[in-house]
This record gives sequence, structure tokens and C-alpha cells, in this order.
Amino acid sequence: MRPDEAIAALVTPAGRRNPHPHYEAIREHGNLVPVKPGLFAAVGHAECLAALREQRLLVQDETSHDISHPGWRSHSSLRGFTNSMLYRNPPDHTRMRRLVAGAFTARRMLALEPVVTALTDRLLDRMAELGADGSAVDFMAEFAFRLPVGVIGALLGVPESDQVWFREVAADVTVALEGITNLERLTAADAAMDELTAYFQEQFRHRREQPGDDLLTELVRVHDADPGTLDEAELVGNLVLLLVAGFDTTTHLLGSALATAFRHPEHAEQLRGDPDFAAGYVEETLRLDPPVQATSRWAQSDVDLLGTAIPAGTRVLLYLAAANRDPDRFPRPHRFDPHRPANKPLSFGGGIHLCLGATLARLEARVAVPRLLRRFPQLADAGGATYRDRLIVPGLERFPVVLGTGA
Ligand code: HEM
Repeated sequence: MRPDEAIAALVTPAGRRNPHPHYEAIREHGNLVPVKPGLFAAVGHAECLAALREQRLLVQDETSHDISHPGWRSHSSLRGFTNSMLYRNPPDHTRMRRLVAGAFTARRMLALEPVVTALTDRLLDRMAELGADGSAVDFMAEFAFRLPVGVIGALLGVPESDQVWFREVAADVTVALEGITNLERLTAADAAMDELTAYFQEQFRHRREQPGDDLLTELVRVHDADPGTLDEAELVGNLVLLLVAGFDTTTHLLGSALATAFRHPEHAEQLRGDPDFAAGYVEETLRLDPPVQATSRWAQSDVDLLGTAIPAGTRVLLYLAAANRDPDRFPRPHRFDPHRPANKPLSFGGGIHLCLGATLARLEARVAVPRLLRRFPQLADAGGATYRDRLIVPGLERFPVVLGTGA
């Protein structure tokens, strides 16, 4: 299969559901290959990492959207995310990231551990109530979504009562993060972005009247002091990004970590007894099933990437999920091995856009999964799990589980 055929197969429903044979088909041609004029694909670990660190490879921004999809500005969802740091290059990216990064230092994240633990236990109590009569509980809706949304909600300072609504709007708005393949598919994403914008504008009004000790108050203060530091569109864009990036991906990590524990009862047993085992287990889950499958960059000027010439204007697809199974970097790449030495998957990206929430996402999974398995030792898959039909952030949609007797 040629690389262009493999990429075409990846975007079909079957390809989205099981992308790995198609990543491997690309790998047969090389770790970094031309697909068609103006497009390259990277599936190697070294190549993806080098691309993420290469300053002349830029994230898709207003300029690249103008070239590839001239009609994009009529979509509020695309405008919204393009105002966030994820789709800005230096110097804008540097300015925005600096404003937010202070809230995500490793020290601050570790201080959040008791909050994550308490919320985990509260949600486990709730699951126990819901499943007490032996009926199945949807792990995604009742736990995997609620924990990360609760944590990012607390960090931002958004009311808990709004959090269930976030799941619905996020499901719609994140379609705009899938890459601009089909502008027609963005109607629901635009409506969701409009709703989120109105929601945050309302929250700004509250914070000006009643400041809190949270990131939202802090960013509104930065904006009000000098709108040149962070204008209102950027303020909203980054808050929407933090909100949806803060839980959508982590929800899928939690679902995947539990599905893996069901497939490997020996690891589930170790997770129950040995809390230190959780870090390696979570990292290996992230490697084999990264919540963000791919990202992309475009060459602002001619770039030599590990010996391959990338002409100016070319777009480079970076298949992080394929890089995580590069046999040159990960021996027996398709095998789940939580004891893998120097396990450094690219699940959180790299370079200047390295995920800001990586420590937080790891913390949530490391705390939650062992506590869940300890609390319900007979937890079992009830059957009927469903998956989202997405290219970039797929993952479980519903995951019914039964708690077992004595829960
Ligand atoms: C960026 C993955 C959780 C906030 C990224 C990128 C990846 C990623 C791959 C880089 C994209 C690129 O370079 O094109 C993940 C995964 C997560 C997760 C797999 C969970 C398992 C979180 C959480 C937060 C967060 C919990 C916030 C609380 C962000 C932000 C960026 C980002 C703000 C943009 C950084 C920048 O552009 O400088 N994430 N993320 N993420 N992530 Fe995460």
C-alpha cells in the first residue's frame, strides 16, 4: 500500500477504529515519507521528536489556514482555537504560554494530589451507589469524565453544577481539533464554541465582581490590566482549550487504563497492592493507546529533518501513536510492558508545545486507577462498550462495568 493510500484508509471509519495496520503500511516506506506534493508523514519516534523540536516547523496557524482552507474564518470553532496557544507560533505562543504555565508547575500539580484523591473517592462512592443493585454503571460517564472535569474545573474555578454540560459541548467543539478536513462538519462545533464563549464572558463578569483564587480570575486580571498582554479573544480561546484539553484526553486515558487492566488481570492485581507500579503502568497505557493520535506542523522555510529535505510550505503529519510503536525505539512495540526501561512515548508531544497538563493527567490516572481497582476487587467489563468515531482523539464513549458482590 502506498503512503497516500494508507492515509486515505486511516480516515475511513474502519481505519479510525483500528489505525495501526495503516501506520505500519506507511512505516514500510520509511519513518518520514513524502505522501503527495506538499505533504509528508512521520511515523518514527526520532523523526516525530525532531519535528516537534524543529523551530522552523510551525503549528497550523492563521497563515497556514488561509492557504489551505480560505473559508475557515467563517467558523467560530476554528477562530476560537486559533486564538489559543496550541495554534500560535512564537512570539504569540511564548507570551500566552508564559501567562498560563505558572498554574501548571510540577510543585503545584503535586499539591493537587489530595484534591484528586478526595474527588476519586467521592466518585467511587457514587459508583458504588449506582451499581449497588448489580446493574451496570457506565465508567466513562460516571467516573472517567467526572474526575478530570472536576479537577480542571477546580483549577479554572468554574462551578461544579456546569460540569455535566461541559461534556456535551466539548464533544461538539473538539471536532474542530480534528484538523480542517471538512468545513461542513463544523456546524455543531461552531454552535458549541459560541456557547462556551458566552459562558466564559458571563464568568468574567462574575470574577470582576467577586474575584476568586483560581486561574480564571488570574487571567481576567491580566487581561484587564493590559489587554495587549492577552486580548479578549485570546482569553476565551485559551480557556476553552484548557477546559477541553483538560478533560477530553484524560477521560480517554482513564478508560483505556481500565480496559487494559481487564485484559491483564496480573497487572490489575499488582496495581491493587503496589501503588508505585502505577506510574509505569500509566506510561505504558499512554504509549500503546495515546489519547491524541496525531498532530501536524508546516514548514515555514526549507527544512532538513534528520537528512530528509522538507520544502517550504509542506505540511508534515506527525503520527504520535505510530512513533510510540517504532520498533527502533521500543523493542516488541505492540506488547504491553509496564516495566519498559526508559519508556518515553510521545503521547504529550514535545518541543515548545509539549502538553501543559502532562503531569496533571499522569497524576489523575496514577491515583485513580489503583483506588478504583482496590475499591471494587471484582470490577468487570459488562460488555457493550462503544468507541467515538474520531481520527485524532478517539477512545471509549461508553464503558459499562459491573462492580461485583460486596461493592
Ligand atoms: C498540548 C496531549 C492532558 C493542556 C498537548 C499536545 C498533546 C497533548 C499531544 C501537543 C499538541 C501539539 O504539539 O500539536 C494530551 C494528552 C492528555 C492531555 C494525551 C491526557 C492524557 C491535558 C491536560 C491539560 C492539557 C489535563 C490541562 C489541564 C494542554 C495545553 C496544550 C496541550 C494547554 C497546548 C500547549 C502549547 O501549545 O504550548 N496535549 N494532553 N492537556 N495540552 Fe495536553
